[in-house]
Amino acid sequence: MNAETKKRNVIIDCDPGIDDCLALMLALKSPELNILGITTVCGNVPASLGAKNALKILKRCGRLDIPVYVGEEKPLQREYISAQDTHGEDGLGDSGIPEVTETVPFYGAVDFLNRTLAEAERVSVIALGPLTNIALALKKNPESWTYAEAFVSMGGSFKSFGNCSPVAEYNYWCDPHAASYVYRHLPVKTQMIGLDVTRKIVLRPDILEYISQICPEEGEYLRKITRFYFDFHWAQEQVLGCVINDPLAVAYFIDPSLCQGRDMYTDIVTEGIALGQSVCDEMGIWKKEPNSHVLLKTDSVRFMKLFLERIAGAKEPQLSGILKQLYPGETLTGDLSERKGGVG
Ligand code: RIB
Ligand code: CA
Repeated sequence: MNAETKKRNVIIDCDPGIDDCLALMLALKSPELNILGITTVCGNVPASLGAKNALKILKRCGRLDIPVYVGEEKPLQREYISAQDTHGEDGLGDSGIPEVTETVPFYGAVDFLNRTLAEAERVSVIALGPLTNIALALKKNPESWTYAEAFVSMGGSFKSFGNCSPVAEYNYWCDPHAASYVYRHLPVKTQMIGLDVTRKIVLRPDILEYISQICPEEGEYLRKITRFYFDFHWAQEQVLGCVINDPLAVAYFIDPSLCQGRDMYTDIVTEGIALGQSVCDEMGIWKKEPNSHVLLKTDSVRFMKLFLERIAGAKEPQLSGILKQLYPGETLTGDLSERKGGVG
């Protein structure tokens, strides 16, 4: 990134959670981003526990200067159902990473979101969990959100199967009323990074091995927090490794050429058998102005190149050779050095 390319102001709303933590690490190691704050929401783990985990990642990356704000502890209407069966009781794979004692989180995530959107310049929000905080902030002060530069949400599923029901993805299933409110009222298009694209992003054992070879300390840390997730993915879907959904949302914000999609009108089902399903009107049957940009395809090899460069400091020409080993027969399309402007 050259000097004149301005960093993009961003707030990350998340429910850390193992893949949220990998996404935070990617964001913290990406010079394009100026992270104004992290807000946590009830999702994988309760918001207060998520805040403790966010502090652990900030400490690891030497960024305890970034404020963490605890958000909502329950969905707008549904009873709260966590995903600790997938992420561990502690939300970090029961890895026993020590708590941060140097600082504590703040409270008031909703007000932090609205205040920052109104006061700071050109702020984008990347949401990696249920949209409870976002919906409440939007309800409380809709005018703040007219200043939002961009809004990226990891959530939903266009044509892929769900992970909480045959059709519903966890973030929108956990709080469907919040998701529906956001899609219906946000003044900017929601960039929907759904399971259609995130399922292509698998952190495999051989990729972890490469990280351990070139960056032993980071490899050890990632092994520690992903072990539980690997075991869950093997037990559930006989997948070797783990799907890491959230880092793709951050990577897409940094380099939108990583994914391709289409503008559509989307709404979220709030009751019944399809509760939490994201219904994307691909053919414009409802004749409604598109409120979302639904991402349909991604270049998983280029994502992994960015991820390995940022997380483990992988360098060329070694990296291209390793990617050929990791993804035989696939080609690296495009060139990360031709960085396009960010989302928005
Ligand atoms: O369905 C996957 C999403 O739900 C990810 O964001 C994961 O962290 C959980 O929040
Ligand atoms: Ca998440």
